[in-house]
Order: sequence, then structure tokens, then C-alpha cells
Amino acid sequence: MATSRPVFSRLYERVSRRLEDAGMAELRRELLDGLAGAAVEVGCGNGLTFAHYPRTVTRVVAVEPEPRLRAAAERAARGAGVGVEVVAGTAEELPLPDASVDAAVLCLVLCSIGDRARALAELRRVLRPGGELRFLEHTVAEDRRLQRVQRLVDATVWPLLAGGCHTATDQVGAIAAAGFTVRRVRRFDFPPARVRVPASPHVLGVAVR
Ligand SMILES: C[S@@+](CC[C@H](N)C(=O)[O-])C[C@H]1O[C@@H](n2cnc3c(N)ncnc32)[C@H](O)[C@@H]1O
Repeated sequence: MATSRPVFSRLYERVSRRLEDAGMAELRRELLDGLAGAAVEVGCGNGLTFAHYPRTVTRVVAVEPEPRLRAAAERAARGAGVGVEVVAGTAEELPLPDASVDAAVLCLVLCSIGDRARALAELRRVLRPGGELRFLEHTVAEDRRLQRVQRLVDATVWPLLAGGCHTATDQVGAIAAAGFTVRRVRRFDFPPARVRVPASPHVLGVAVR
């Protein structure tokens, strides 16, 4: 179970709100567009995704291990347009029965999960056959030079500053390796800028169980 991260959680609450205005809110809407039925969101952080679930979603179980972020997510859940239950836990051990949800949501979280293969296997377990995994993640760069920078920061300061995040992780490859069929992927830089940083390359997509 991920431990309490008081410094990261405070920092993330601030930074994440600024990124919302820089376009992340719009990306969250795109991530969730058209979803229906029951959903699970893992690593929901302070709950910024909740406001963007369409009304066709009947309930969301939102799993978050970090206590301060989980408390913020509980507050966000109270103002959400859909029913959100925030629970303590990790992606590697989801508190849900097999095939019990119609959709699974990953938003800026795969990079921080200790055992991604196990977390993705858990998502496959709880998702019904044909259910969708929606993902919005930063990812390993296609450009070799930026990849080298990503590996360097991953081996030094980045995980310490960014809550265990590793930037040189191939999210789409991991999702496919877990047995999902990747249906759609859009690659882009966020926030858009002339100088690319290790967390610039992003993917937004849909995979099916
Ligand atoms: C960068 S934040 C993203 C938060 C949120 N999903 C968002 O879109 O703003 C990464 C989140 O993953 C959570 N996390 C880290 N390890 C996890 C794990 N093993 N299982 C579930 N969540 C985890 C962290 O506590 C944090 O809330």
C-alpha cells in the first residue's frame, strides 16, 4: 500500500489546479466522454476528474491510497454530478468483485504505480468483458533524446519530487501487454510548450477488455 506523502500531496493539490486551467480540464472531459454505467477510477488523487463524468455514469468507485488526497477527493465527490464513493486502497488490489464495472479510468496514475502489471491485471479482473479502459497518461517519449533525459531524471530526483512517478514508462505497451485491445490512442504534449520536459509526452486513449 502506498504510504502517506504529505509533501507531494500538498504540492499536487496546487499544481493540479493550475493545470486544469491550462487545458487539463478539457482533456478530462474527453477522457470520460460517452461513458455509461458503473466505473472504477484508480489513483483518483484530489478528485478533479469527478466533475467531468457524464450523467450516463451511474456510480463511480474511486480508489486512492494517499490520505490527504483521499480527503480532498471525498470533498470533491460531494459536489460531483454523479454518485462517487471514495475508498482507501491501491490499484494492485481493488476492493471490487470480478466483472463488476462497465468502465475503468486511469488518469495520470500508471507512472506512479509500483506494480503496473498487477494493477492492470486487477483492472481486467473487475471490468466486464467488452468494458472500456479509458486512459490519460504521460508516457515515454518517442524521441530518443528526450527518452534519455527521462531515464536520467527517473534515476535521480523525479520520483522523489513527483510522488513516485517515472516518466520513461510505456503506458500503451503495458496496457496491451496486460491483454487489453487498444482501440484508440492520441499522442500530444501537455502542457503545449516549445521546450519539451520529461513529463510532456502524453497519451489519451481507449482499450477494451
Ligand atoms: C499524479 S497523481 C494523479 C491524481 C489524479 N488521478 C488526477 O488525475 O489528478 C497520481 C495518483 O496516483 C496515486 N497512486 C500512487 N500509487 C498508487 C497505487 N499503487 N494505486 C492507486 N493509486 C496510486 C497517488 O496517490 C496519486 O493520487
